[in-house]
Amino acid sequence: MTRSRKQRQTGRWAARHNRDRFVRQARSGGWRARAVFKLEEIDRKYQLIKPGATVVDLGAAPGSWSQYAAARIYGGGGRDDGDGAGGDGRIIAVDLRDMPAIDGVDFIRGDFTDAAVAAQVEAALQRPAALVLSDLSPDLSGIRSADQARAEALQYAVLAFCARALRPGGGLLTKVFAGEAAPAVRARLDACFDTVRALKPAASRAQSREVYLLARGFAGDAETAPGDGGNHGKSGNHGNHGNHGKIDGETNRGDAPAPARNDLYSATVAR
Ligand SMILES: C[S@@+](CC[C@H](N)C(=O)[O-])C[C@H]1O[C@@H](n2cnc3c(N)ncnc32)[C@H](O)[C@@H]1O
Repeated sequence: MTRSRKQRQTGRWAARHNRDRFVRQARSGGWRARAVFKLEEIDRKYQLIKPGATVVDLGAAPGSWSQYAAARIYGGGGRDDGDGAGGDGRIIAVDLRDMPAIDGVDFIRGDFTDAAVAAQVEAALQRPAALVLSDLSPDLSGIRSADQARAEALQYAVLAFCARALRPGGGLLTKVFAGEAAPAVRARLDACFDTVRALKPAASRAQSREVYLLARGFAGDAETAPGDGGNHGKSGNHGNHGNHGKIDGETNRGDAPAPARNDLYSATVAR
């Protein structure tokens, strides 16, 4: 029986996957996905996840980022192991798909853009998070313009989620896809955070269009005042607008003029 084109493609993907050094390392280390090494690299370099921190992991399944966050926050023990190492740290993981349990991680199954699900996350958090992680991948249709719009909408939804659940001064690590919409997303992050860096960790495949944006110093009032794009006059280089529209490099808040609040953004703000 001859194999279909799709079967041949799947076979080639499986062979490449099994040869991948990060896949092999993840398997031997007990991590659920090779994606863990992207987070690990960024965390080692930028000390993202602190012991005792409160973290939300959006698009968490199968769970390697949550596994890693749990190890960092609780220092190897569970949340309630009583040794005090993890303090009152907390990890809330959200995904459309089911995810097997991880010690110290509260899993909520659902769409985080759904107001009821976001409210569940807030309730589970008990206090605003210090860090939001997003390794979300939108379902792709293969139609370029539709996929870009979907990816962009997802990023604005992440920002809207930050406005509800991230504490002022908090951080966001979010996966974006290079493309037409990426500069607008980047500009919106520039307006809402003190600093934004674009990162391509070694475990991110070179041919993949994904880039991770690490945004720190969240302006807590970033989206609560309609129309001003969240640029509330905190420190920043207000004279330099030269970085507007860039996705790469590092920027400070105030480098870029705040883009106009658009329908997509306000449509995803569920308060
Ligand atoms: C690349 S995977 C995440 C891998 C994960 N970081 C890990 O280390 O195991 C992306 C996930 O995003 C989830 N996702 C996409 N859109 C979502 C949404 N609106 N709400 C919740 N999860 C979503 C998908 O179901 C998928 O499991």
